[in-house]
Amino acid sequence: MQPGSLSDSLAVTDTTILIFGASGDLTARKLMPALFTLWHEGHLPNNVPIVGVARREKSDDSFREEMGAAVRKFGRIHDITDEQWTQFAARLFYHQIEIEKPDGYPAMRQRLCELEAGLRGGDPDDRENNRVVYLATDPRLFLPAAQCLSAGGLVPGRDAPNWLRVVFEKPFGHDLASSQELTHQLSRLLREDQIYRIDHYLGKETVQNILLFRFGNAIFEPLLNRHHVDHVQITMSETQGIESGRGGYYDQSGALRDVLQNHVLQLLCLVAMEPPAVFQADQIRDEKLKVLQSLRGGDPKDVSKWAVAGQYVGGKIDGAAAPSYRAEERVAEDSRRETFVAMELFVDNWRWAGVPFYLRTGKRLPQRMTEIVIKFKLPPLHPFSTVECVGDQCGLVGTRPNSLVFRIQPEESITLSCSVKRPGHQYHLEAQKLEYKYPSGLAEAYERLLLDVIRGDSTLFTRSDELEAAWRFVQPVLDYWENPDFQPEFYQVNTWGPKNADQLLAQYGRAWVNHDKKKS
Ligand code: BG6
Repeated sequence: MQPGSLSDSLAVTDTTILIFGASGDLTARKLMPALFTLWHEGHLPNNVPIVGVARREKSDDSFREEMGAAVRKFGRIHDITDEQWTQFAARLFYHQIEIEKPDGYPAMRQRLCELEAGLRGGDPDDRENNRVVYLATDPRLFLPAAQCLSAGGLVPGRDAPNWLRVVFEKPFGHDLASSQELTHQLSRLLREDQIYRIDHYLGKETVQNILLFRFGNAIFEPLLNRHHVDHVQITMSETQGIESGRGGYYDQSGALRDVLQNHVLQLLCLVAMEPPAVFQADQIRDEKLKVLQSLRGGDPKDVSKWAVAGQYVGGKIDGAAAPSYRAEERVAEDSRRETFVAMELFVDNWRWAGVPFYLRTGKRLPQRMTEIVIKFKLPPLHPFSTVECVGDQCGLVGTRPNSLVFRIQPEESITLSCSVKRPGHQYHLEAQKLEYKYPSGLAEAYERLLLDVIRGDSTLFTRSDELEAAWRFVQPVLDYWENPDFQPEFYQVNTWGPKNADQLLAQYGRAWVNHDKKKS
């Protein structure tokens, strides 16, 4: 196996960054703060023009001012001085355009050449510059934007000395058929190496560590298979409901499309995949693809036996009233959209055959947490009892299985729980933890991912075949839930979802690992 990931050896080259949808929330909350941090920490070339592109009329100065406020509010770097901001803002520009109309593109291209020549020197008629186009737009603009870029001469051919990389935010399609259609249409305009489908979970430091931890240590990998693992749980729980302005999108989407089809399945891939022969983008993605192609849910005609949909109903959170999902802004009063999903599935390969994977995600749950729990089998014989205490009250329980936990948020850590002798004159065990906690102040996912686009490392981006396999797996569930008689099960806000989600595990004597609020 070759050491290091591809990006260790990739240099950051001169590039121009265009953000389509520059007036939106994503630009203000995530993209601009990430770009500022990258620049501040010296990861961006000094002469990189960053051009906000959107429909609204705005001057460069007003865009700079807006972005200054956003970076100070949402960014990771505090105490930004006026001088630092002015230096950074000198490379920020705004260009007004109707993104879906080709007639504005020649003028935009001309302006880009002038800005590039202005910052880097050189001839403004030189069109051979590297460019990143980040589509932080309504997904309905993905295809028109690609068409206009192509028609406007902004997509270099395979042999051109310069490159274009187009970043697509999710959702990339609404179901299997629409995502296949979008992939097909885009493939006529852009090559796969020009397409970067972002899944921001893959940019999180602890998520990347899953692979390094698994394949950088000899002691765990031999245990991660059907001989030793009882089951795996992946939870991504959120306390928030539907953020203002998102109701329209979410009510069309739901938890399965919004989070499970992408973030949660990507986490599953990293836990379940085989080591690639070479640690490079395509080889890693080949292995993830094999996992996605091996996923098996239950009977597609009886989805409720293995997949549970829930929708939250109002109640109190910390004494304050929280509305029902159906009362959220821009959500239908009789909406049947799920805000929670849990499912049992299997990875049908030699390593994992017969080991259940339990996935769940939901809004308005008691804790914001993303965690992967690998529960090992019990020792074959257990002559000792384990003592567990809640406060001063201690009791004997049966032997506890070992578990390996990857905590992705809020506090990033890796924990191995083991049984050790409890001090005293009896042969009793108690559970103890071997824990590695990440330091605070880790890089934001978007910093890493933007840098990877600039240096051309697509390891952490979803390839079209992975995307298709993920949609193919969830499609029977989507179809089943489309049935007009289907209703998600209600759950109260601030609880761990519907009863049937617990039942999914309880029928086999298993239980979700929940944490009480104090730990959040
Ligand atoms: C997004 C979803 O992709 O991920 C949101 O669209 C969700 O609904 C968000 O809230 C969660 O991301 P994070 O990084 O806060 O866990």
